[in-house]
Amino acid sequence: LGAILCCLALGYALGSIPFGLLLTRAAGLGDVRAIGSGNIGATNVLRTGNKGLAAATLILDVLKGTAATLLGAYLLPALVPASPITGALAAGIGAFLGHLFPVWLGFKGGKGVATYIGILAGIAWKAALGFCALWLIVAFVTRYSSLSALIAACGAPLLIWWLLGPIPAIVFAGLSALLIGMHHANIRRLLAGEEHKIGASNKAR
Ligand code: G3P
Repeated sequence: LGAILCCLALGYALGSIPFGLLLTRAAGLGDVRAIGSGNIGATNVLRTGNKGLAAATLILDVLKGTAATLLGAYLLPALVPASPITGALAAGIGAFLGHLFPVWLGFKGGKGVATYIGILAGIAWKAALGFCALWLIVAFVTRYSSLSALIAACGAPLLIWWLLGPIPAIVFAGLSALLIGMHHANIRRLLAGEEHKIGASNKAR
């Protein structure tokens, strides 16, 4: 249990780095939480009008998820007799919780989409591709980042079940449930026909 907690904590430390906030601050754009949806993710960083920063936020939020899973896969079997996938899942859960509930920001973090992709990529890259394909198709058709993420998050656990079996699929279903929960305000806006579309800049919350 101690070794699993180590992986969770390491993942949490990585996941809790709020790249969107740090990058927009460093670029002198102020607090990204004061614009658009108030979120610290790439979609909202794009609402500052700086595409480069949005891309960097996306990439770094993905990479911290992947880095956590790879470290967990290495660390857990080095500490106790356990499989790499168990370590990867534990660190992935930690990274996801770190991104959603970072202690540094009073436990108010992001919605987890990029980090979810990163965790998927570290555990089953084909499922990450599937998530991105679903996201892109829905985004292309609707221009809603949130709806794209919600649909992709429903599909990902099924892909994981197919690729890796039921236990990892249940873990990802849990992460998807959290991701969907973090999008409650987006879901309300989608149902009311008031959701912000991708690239529409700086609208009020
Ligand atoms: O990743 C977050 C995305 O799904 C929605 O972002 O800023 O429109 O709430 P946002």
